[in-house]
Amino acid sequence: MHIYLKKNKIIEKMRISGHLASQVLRKIKPYIISGITTAELDNICQNYIIQKQAISGCLGYHGFPSSTCISVNEISCHGIPSKKKKLNNGDIVNIDVTVIKNKYYADTSKMFIVGKTKKIAYELCKAAKNSLYITFPIIKPGLPINIIGRTIQKYIQKTPFSIVKEYCGHGIGLNFHEIPYILHYDHYNTIILKQGMIFTIEPIINAGTNEVFCMNDNWTICTKDHNLSAQYEHTILVTKNGCEILTKRKNEKIKRIYSN
Ligand code: MF3
Ligand code: CO
Ligand code: CO
Repeated sequence: MHIYLKKNKIIEKMRISGHLASQVLRKIKPYIISGITTAELDNICQNYIIQKQAISGCLGYHGFPSSTCISVNEISCHGIPSKKKKLNNGDIVNIDVTVIKNKYYADTSKMFIVGKTKKIAYELCKAAKNSLYITFPIIKPGLPINIIGRTIQKYIQKTPFSIVKEYCGHGIGLNFHEIPYILHYDHYNTIILKQGMIFTIEPIINAGTNEVFCMNDNWTICTKDHNLSAQYEHTILVTKNGCEILTKRKNEKIKRIYSN
């Protein structure tokens, strides 16, 4: 097993996949209102993906039944969209979009807030977002991979929140999930970042304990204490001297290219 280093022709394809995934999250935003079901949101995303001659990476993945993962409030990740699940004011919602375009995957997710929510929920979403964003200025060739996790951990330790340890970022390309795996906490690791690596970073941050469990549908991951959970995810290319955020949204307040 070796880590596949992507060259220009493939990077160009992954930029296209990344842009499409980012657009799904922009297009879905106006639909996130009280009363809509998560199945309806999933349908809108699926239609957009198909319209762009792409397919969902989630649909049928190990039997996953939908095009997106939609995880509301105490659901940490892998929520299955449902006709029975209506959004309410104050909900915090993660939509996780994976597309395949020209055989290449891109994977991204963000939090949405339905109407207005309580302070702690805003702060949790902000901490999850920042825990992803603070890794961008450190990513460059030569960086030991565990420093990404250490950076996230140091940041979250200063908040009242906790990091879920069971899920991690992952290499991505022709495969949905490939090496290297990117843990969101410090650990022993000898992998060194190299130019051409493409991987996701996708920290899941909990308001209470970091413990989670899998529900009876064998997919939905829920916090053990039923407190809130939030996640942000981007697909990131290691460049010659920094990184490029392949799933950056047009209106997102980050740089696309970091020279570090
Ligand atoms: N998109 C998730 C990730 O970030 C994986 C979802 S797998 C699915 O890696 F089958 F639930 F869609
Ligand atoms: Co991912
Ligand atoms: Co994802």
